[in-house]
Amino acid sequence: MKAIAVKKGDKEPLLSWEEVPDIQCGPEEVLVNVMATAVNRADLLQAMGLYPPPPGESEILGLEMAGAIAAIGDAVQGRQIGDRVLAILPGGGYAQQVAVHPQMLIELPGSWSFVEGAAIPEVWLTAFLNLFIEGTLQSGETVMIHAGGSGVGTAGIQMAREAGALVYITAGAEEKLEKCRGLGAALALNYKEQDFFEEVMTATGGNGVDLILDPVGGAYLNQNLSLLKENGRLVNIGLLGGNTAEMNMAAILGKSLRIIGSRLRSRPLMEKIAITQQFKERFWALLEGGKIQPVIDTVFPIEEVQAAHAYVRENRNTGKVILEVNAAG
Ligand SMILES: NC(=O)c1ccc[n+]([C@@H]2O[C@H](COP(=O)([O-])OP(=O)(O)OC[C@H]3O[C@@H](n4cnc5c(N)ncnc54)[C@H](OP(=O)(O)O)[C@@H]3O)[C@@H](O)[C@H]2O)c1
Repeated sequence: MKAIAVKKGDKEPLLSWEEVPDIQCGPEEVLVNVMATAVNRADLLQAMGLYPPPPGESEILGLEMAGAIAAIGDAVQGRQIGDRVLAILPGGGYAQQVAVHPQMLIELPGSWSFVEGAAIPEVWLTAFLNLFIEGTLQSGETVMIHAGGSGVGTAGIQMAREAGALVYITAGAEEKLEKCRGLGAALALNYKEQDFFEEVMTATGGNGVDLILDPVGGAYLNQNLSLLKENGRLVNIGLLGGNTAEMNMAAILGKSLRIIGSRLRSRPLMEKIAITQQFKERFWALLEGGKIQPVIDTVFPIEEVQAAHAYVRENRNTGKVILEVNAAG
């Protein structure tokens, strides 16, 4: 089969679509012909050698895919060759084929393209996990979603809105703010021009928010803690703004705050199956019905993965950047 190979380059890793050894599925897996996958920040880090896959998992990049089942392990029941499916992956998505545990699969609705399917798994499951399981977001609460124009952000705004929460976001470009308002953000702030802490405090009459979904980390830590109400939760999912910050513990104790670090990829298979099932139960009908929708910025053929990574690295996308696999042959 073909897959993306990573080689060291002068300025950035060199990514190319090459022949690699074929794979097979185990008895408790299905083999899927990948038709579309998508770029995640983790792929950029992995390509630079900074984020290795969990032990025992594929070294090939790619945390999600949509495709059609090509082979079925002997112990697997209830699946047919040709079933159109999507799933998060621990790795291996930037390839023509990938082996997946069948309980990780979500059926692709008949009217959806593989490109639309590949825009779902990683960011929708991440947003769902961290807003509703880790963040315990309730109807009537207020949530701040940083990087609102990101894949995770655009999914999170829609689910939080449907759950009856008031959504505030930050982003760094006017078109991203506009998109987030359209998805349901009640307040969209440009963090490059506005002090999000001051603006949200004004908007909430000094109350602050119940939950913050934060991929920024160090640079926002103290503003985030100041922004939280009593019993507020800060769920950190990334470190785009640095790893370190000095913290005033009095804010945590004085307001009974919780700071939660949360990773999806490294969780045990059974946890990922449970998260997938809970997401399906709560939000899949809304996605199928079009009430909430995947947000796709650009589609690249997988042969142009180098350009796709550069596009994401430069923060140009609002929503997902998809890699179409069948287009490359
Ligand atoms: N923990 C997990 O399990 C998990 C899973 C999936 C994703 N993630 C993380 O969640 C984050 C979002 O992922 P994604 O795929 O949705 O990302 P994405 O679509 O690539 O968007 C990320 C956006 O973050 C903003 N950003 C970048 N650097 C920033 C900084 N220093 N300060 C503030 N904003 C910054 C940029 O938008 P602006 O133009 O608005 O600056 C950028 O477009 C990433 O950090 C990713 O690693 C974590």
